[in-house]
Amino acid sequence: MKGNENLIKTLNELLADELTAISQLMVHSEMCHNWGYEALHKRIEKQAIDEMHHAEWLIQRILFLEGMPLVSKLNEMKIGKSVLEMLTNDQDAETGAIRSYNAGIALASEVGDESTGDLLTTILKMEEGHHDWAKKQRTQIEQMGLETYLSNQTGAE
Ligand SMILES: [Fe+2]
Ligand SMILES: [Fe+2]
Repeated sequence: MKGNENLIKTLNELLADELTAISQLMVHSEMCHNWGYEALHKRIEKQAIDEMHHAEWLIQRILFLEGMPLVSKLNEMKIGKSVLEMLTNDQDAETGAIRSYNAGIALASEVGDESTGDLLTTILKMEEGHHDWAKKQRTQIEQMGLETYLSNQTGAE
């Protein structure tokens, strides 16, 4: 089914965001593993896998709309040097994702492609969950202090 050109372009922009997020999260996840924060390592790894599913679903949708998925473009990555910096950068990335998915949903509705809108809504809800998780971690660090927070992250979940 031939899709709207503008919408396909937007889906490709979202795809670039997802591919960037996968790389950023993989590096953060492995940095946590390297420091022995296994619970954080596992949780961030799981989030990278969520983003991989998003990329996969976007590629499927672009192909269905007879577009060409662009997978060679990565945006600027923000690798944190500490756990707090990682969580802050990841939360910022999720804030951007929420904004972009909301804009994509509005465009899908404008061009009369409710099915693409549904897919973007499914992903948006997951991004809201990612944002909420990062925010909770930052709140815990603020409330219990970084040392206590980190000492809770050494065991596997
Ligand atoms: Fe995502
Ligand atoms: Fe996300």
